[in-house]
Amino acid sequence: MPIPRETVEQILQTARIEEVVGEFVTLKKRGSNMWGNCPFHNEKTPSFSVNPARNIFKCFGCGKAGDSAKFLMEHEHFSYPEALRYLAKKYNIKIEEKEQTAEEIMQQSLREKMFNINEFADKYFVDTLWNTEEGRTIGLEYFRERGYLNPIIEKFRLGYNPDAPKWDAFTEHAKKNGYSEELLEQIGLSIKGSKGLYDRYHGRVMFPIHSLTGRVIGFGGRILVNDKKSPKYQNSPESEIYDKKQTLYGIYFAKNAIAKNDECILVEGYFDVLRMHQIGIENVVASSGTSLTMEQIRLVKRYTKNITMLYDGDAAGVHAALRGTDMILSEGMNVRVVVLPPEHDPDTFGKEFSTEYVSNYLKENAKDFIRFKTELLLKDAENDPIKRGQVIRDIVETISVIPDSIFRITYVKECSRLLDMPEQTLTNELNKILRAKLKKTLGIENEVVTETDTTTVTQPKQEETLEEQLPAGYYQERELVKLLLMYGRELITDERIDEDGQRIYEQVTVAQFIIDDLKNDGFTFTNVVNKKIFDIFDHAIDEGRIPDDQLFVSHEDETIAQLAADLLSSPYKLDQWEKYGIFVKREENVLRATVLSSIYRYKDLIIEERRKAIEEELKITTDSDDQLILLKHKKDLDDIRKQINKELGIVIAK
Ligand code: UTP
Ligand code: MN
Repeated sequence: MPIPRETVEQILQTARIEEVVGEFVTLKKRGSNMWGNCPFHNEKTPSFSVNPARNIFKCFGCGKAGDSAKFLMEHEHFSYPEALRYLAKKYNIKIEEKEQTAEEIMQQSLREKMFNINEFADKYFVDTLWNTEEGRTIGLEYFRERGYLNPIIEKFRLGYNPDAPKWDAFTEHAKKNGYSEELLEQIGLSIKGSKGLYDRYHGRVMFPIHSLTGRVIGFGGRILVNDKKSPKYQNSPESEIYDKKQTLYGIYFAKNAIAKNDECILVEGYFDVLRMHQIGIENVVASSGTSLTMEQIRLVKRYTKNITMLYDGDAAGVHAALRGTDMILSEGMNVRVVVLPPEHDPDTFGKEFSTEYVSNYLKENAKDFIRFKTELLLKDAENDPIKRGQVIRDIVETISVIPDSIFRITYVKECSRLLDMPEQTLTNELNKILRAKLKKTLGIENEVVTETDTTTVTQPKQEETLEEQLPAGYYQERELVKLLLMYGRELITDERIDEDGQRIYEQVTVAQFIIDDLKNDGFTFTNVVNKKIFDIFDHAIDEGRIPDDQLFVSHEDETIAQLAADLLSSPYKLDQWEKYGIFVKREENVLRATVLSSIYRYKDLIIEERRKAIEEELKITTDSDDQLILLKHKKDLDDIRKQINKELGIVIAK
């Protein structure tokens, strides 16, 4: 039954884009627009904008744009009528509709049917819990015994699926109301046995699982008797509306608190979520016993970058905590771990202690993951040097998944202290891992790295570093590529001396600045993919335009698209200078300093490379004239290098 046109118009005019989007995305006001991280693609810096005046959204990253209805269709996978109905409900607009006929029910999309039957079941389970003898004496009594109060039971819409008389009370009720056996089985509320359909959850207390928008997409049911043959929890099978790996139990009730606290507490079980809410800690969701997925982590990331894992104090809990961390870290998020006393899980802990005690415990025991992991593993390996070696490798492996190099460095420092181990040793280990990964992504075959004969080197032997092994300056190149992609269109001040010796200043784009500077000194990138990106910029600048990052992300050459996506989705902190105790005042100066130092570092490395080659030559050259020429080259390089270091010093000092 179509919605009347006037009603459609009324709905779309009433809906406020910032309110509709605001339920799913944390928005911050900046200028006349509001900004947030785009929910449609993975991004670290907000490029998703909402324009309240024009009542539309647009993502400058992925290009998606439209009105409130469009947003819901994209985000919730609603059909157009579903989106309108959602908005009508949100804004209390009445849609004139007659009772649906059986045929109309048939015509609804399968998804809609599934949502419908879940809503129907949800009502039934809640009603049964509160208003039937069996529900009250068995179901409600169970919650009471575990110390749960009405507000929480009502808020989470906990319910009960009867056992009596023949395990099919719900199934029969649903069939009487026109729901087909096929659908009941498909959505998993009923199971087909030898004597026909029966209730999957008979005799269990029920937890509806809500989507981000609060629709029931599945259920979990806990058994109340000791029965070794049945699992403690029965859960809905996956369906068109329930994808386990995309779901976190409690997210609908927790999302606002997560954004507000800028922290998400992750627990394992249904009751853990309930308990925390009951004691007033509401930024809590559960992974429901399975190991964490990337999709779940990204779901959380829409609201915060900080995850605190609150796991059982037993060995299994600690293990579960360890499993998730690498995945969270690789998303550029911060992970902390809280381990409870061995006899507790969050549910029992929250039951035994006051809210204040629990929050204090969380505050005092939240350990940065690296600390947590290091201490934990170290305990195992105490006096065993072989195990200790493994521990170090293991921890460095974890550090290597962190996308931001600055954070990696910080963690290496911290670890060096905890492990009582020279920083350099850890860095070397880290570089080895990074290099192996890099080779894998780049598909570089094991190229032969020529060993230098250390006996003839006059300098003290340096420890092997990444830069020596990789194609010259790969990381520096990549840093520059990243700057090109992320800030290529921004303007910075170029300062140079013109022919008359006058100092002149002009505004140029970062892209032009980098490309010109490198070209002037005869540099280009050595890595094939980096070089391709360099050439695209070079060519575009010749034509007077600066390509934007989308061009690269959706480039037909997959190596380019991949690298661009990787670089753009890892965080880039322009304010890194402050970490080194260096303060650069204006934003533009920060960008300029970053660009310049990246260029200098890159050149410095290339020069070092060339210098080394000369030294190698010198070792095998016997002709004295040749030696002289080589030494002259070497001196020239040293001069350039000194100049670079001086300029770098100036940049940093500014
Ligand atoms: P736990 O075994 O730790 O249970 O499983 P719990 O949450 O503490 O439950 P109570 O306190 O004994 O009632 C943690 C989570 O793993 C999932 C559930 O989501 C549970 O909350 N699980 C566990 C299942 O899905 N099926 C099971 O059979 C057991
Ligand atoms: Mn428990």
